[in-house]
Amino acid sequence: MKVSKRADVPPFFAMEVLRMANTKAAGGDTVFRLEAGEPGSGTPRGVLEAAHAALDRAHLGYTESLGLPALRQRIARHYLDYYGVTVAPERIIVTTGSSGGFILAFLAAFDAGDRLALVDPSYPAYRNMCAALGINVVRIPAGITERFQPTVELVDSLDPVPEGMIIASPSNPTGTLIERSRLKAIAEHAEARGIRLVSDEIYHGITYGERAETVLKFSDRAIVTNGFSKYFAMTGWRLGWLVLPTELIRPVERLAQNFFISPPAIAQFAALAAFDCSAELDANVERYARNRALLMKTLPEAGFGEFAPCDGAFYIYADVSRLTNDSEEFCQRMLHEAGVAATPGIDFDRERGRHFVRFSFAGPSEQIEAACDALKRWLR
Ligand SMILES: Cc1ncc(COP(=O)(O)O)c(C=O)c1O
Repeated sequence: MKVSKRADVPPFFAMEVLRMANTKAAGGDTVFRLEAGEPGSGTPRGVLEAAHAALDRAHLGYTESLGLPALRQRIARHYLDYYGVTVAPERIIVTTGSSGGFILAFLAAFDAGDRLALVDPSYPAYRNMCAALGINVVRIPAGITERFQPTVELVDSLDPVPEGMIIASPSNPTGTLIERSRLKAIAEHAEARGIRLVSDEIYHGITYGERAETVLKFSDRAIVTNGFSKYFAMTGWRLGWLVLPTELIRPVERLAQNFFISPPAIAQFAALAAFDCSAELDANVERYARNRALLMKTLPEAGFGEFAPCDGAFYIYADVSRLTNDSEEFCQRMLHEAGVAATPGIDFDRERGRHFVRFSFAGPSEQIEAACDALKRWLR
């Protein structure tokens, strides 16, 4: 019987490496895990306590489709506290992970056949979700000179003008930021040209110098996607949020009612406490910073090529063209011979990604130290 063409999307190679690494570890081999973009620290204590209290006391049924009003208000307060931006709670929609937010945002803002521009390299789900939804992806190839981020000139050169564009700052896989002035220029350009800008801000809070700025400072027509998986270290709770321009609230509400009914109740009650866990969460960021410094020193020593110093997130996207032409085969060898799991660049850039590997340093520092030693021995 029929299997749809729309389901024929490429796999997420990071998850394939994760499976191979699990198999190898289950066979008794030592594996250093630098493949998954997941905080190694686990859920913050205050969130766990709030979840326990909710299990005892809350009625964990469906919530409103747009999320618990108290959580929408708490997220709005976070915008005021953290960025100094006033956002009405009505514009905040709680979603099932930011992944669930993308589906709602893409469906509400774009029709099949519309064009969505994104930079290569980018988080693969953007392009693969678009493929499934019939949205055409327009690639903006950016290299190390642009720090793997779009510029106004690159966006302006797109012909025809796309209906939408997605940006991520800090980015996965490169960790680079779009600096404030460039973000402002891109947001203003997008608004002037009628391009619906989607700003993926999931790595905000994890930066190693300048803080990441929200696009909401420069545009109230842009869509923001964010969530509790990265800074808040709550991957498995599957909770995210959107900040929407007013004209998209009702369309997203109708879609959310039909697609998801509501985001998970227990996760929403628990997440109410997440904004008060900054001491623990900032300590995670300090650990990432130490891991980052070690990898930035070790990778060139071991023989890896150039990479843009990551300003945020927990990734280094290293050029491996001196070592291989085929990053997928290289990652498999690195896993089997050195015991280091990392993600091939083809996940993020189908063409140039053959020459890149992404290392995630979100894990425990001992793992990163051991991986650095193993890489040096392997490539000696
Ligand atoms: C750039 C980016 N956006 C979104 C996500 C999805 O996160 P979640 O669905 O867990 O919120 C990820 C996960 O790795 C990511 O790297």
